[in-house]
Amino acid sequence: MSYLLLSGATVVGASGRQLTDVLIKDEKIDAIGDLDEYLPESVTRVDCSGKFLLPGGVDVHTHIDSPLMGTTTADDFVSGTVAAATGGTTTLIDFAQQLPGEDLATSLEKHREKAKGKAVVDYGFHMCITNLYSGFESHMGELTQEGVSSFKIFMAYRGSLMVNDGEMYDILRTAGKYGAKLCVHAENGDVIDRMARDLVENGQVGPGNHELARPPATEIEAVERAIRISKMAEVPLYFVHLSTDGAVEAVARAQSEGWPIGAETCTHYLTLDRAIYDQPGFEPAKAVLTPPLRTQRHRDALWRGLNTGALSVVSSDHCPFCFDEKRRLGGDDFRSIPNGGPGVEHRMSVMYGLGVAQNRMTLEKYVEVTALNPAKTFGLHPRKGEITPGADADIIILDPKGTTRISAGTQKQNMDYTLYEGFTLPGSMDAVYSRGELIASNGEYVGKSGRGRFIPRIP
Ligand code: URP
Ligand code: ZN
Ligand code: ZN
Repeated sequence: MSYLLLSGATVVGASGRQLTDVLIKDEKIDAIGDLDEYLPESVTRVDCSGKFLLPGGVDVHTHIDSPLMGTTTADDFVSGTVAAATGGTTTLIDFAQQLPGEDLATSLEKHREKAKGKAVVDYGFHMCITNLYSGFESHMGELTQEGVSSFKIFMAYRGSLMVNDGEMYDILRTAGKYGAKLCVHAENGDVIDRMARDLVENGQVGPGNHELARPPATEIEAVERAIRISKMAEVPLYFVHLSTDGAVEAVARAQSEGWPIGAETCTHYLTLDRAIYDQPGFEPAKAVLTPPLRTQRHRDALWRGLNTGALSVVSSDHCPFCFDEKRRLGGDDFRSIPNGGPGVEHRMSVMYGLGVAQNRMTLEKYVEVTALNPAKTFGLHPRKGEITPGADADIIILDPKGTTRISAGTQKQNMDYTLYEGFTLPGSMDAVYSRGELIASNGEYVGKSGRGRFIPRIP
């Protein structure tokens, strides 16, 4: 048995903070409080004075080693999870995707194999449903029972990922039957495809046109439609990667009417501006992600949505493609640029540095949207998401006086760029523990290889 005492830190939870000690016994948090009288002789002490102890980040939206738009995302489960760990994320839920001609169980198994023995943080999977087939309902039930208790559908990407409204209804009904959660990518794919076609026919083939083909209304319309379908199916849903003011308003309206819609936004929609699409050459391709970056008005609405609770989760939507790969596939036509950007490594630092340190959210709200709510929403709590006795000892020691400098040259993500190049942010992740093991120290991975575990999630 091994004991570790993190002493004298400010321990932060969603409902407050306290100056206290945390005792870890093996992989679990054993006790919190003034523990001097109760300590075992063999305890190892770490002095955390002046630091914050935060629950390890829970990132519920990553695409690691995943096929998309004719290529594969740049991180495998080693580099992707090492990046997560050094950035303070100790659990992630990755999207497995139903592949053409395969059933859900077969595709899930293939993706699961990619993570086995490679992941260094704990992980689960959502399953993307891209093609309905006879028997999909029972497979949804089986996967849910195995702990893959959430699914994703796309309202965009006709011909590859998209399902139609009737299929969405069927999937919602089935999710409701098994107590699974349905994540929805809400964009009007057919209108987007036509807008993109018109741009190309007009000679506008460069990467900045990605934004013009996906105006805010394409997201807002899809969100409103999906809410109506969810009400018809009598099964609530969860929106991934919301980016617009109108989407937040639609979600808040449904919630105020008593319909429990869940919704997330992502680090980049909160912190980065659409101006990148005006840059010359192929540079805008770095922000060819879906939906695109928006204006300040939308960012203000997203921050408000987080602070009022309409949005409850901030994820990374880590979906990395190197710049050269984007150019190889979409150099002549923005429609072929693989959609996505990196983010798993810097979500926690950016949300602290540009959120908490700039008074856009409290430290308690930060814990809520980066760890507690993601864990609760997706069936990982109380094991993950909170520093509480009995939980896994997944803990960040954050130094508010430190700084984090972001650069492609030093990042752990297997990427040749970052959208946060040159940012120096207040706050540093001095140490990251996963199940009581120190896995990252001052931005370097120091844990064992392949130590991450699959965590089945409660429906
Ligand atoms: O921009 C991204 N991430 N696009 C592809 C995956 C997704 O979440 O839709
Ligand atoms: Zn999506
Ligand atoms: Zn995504």
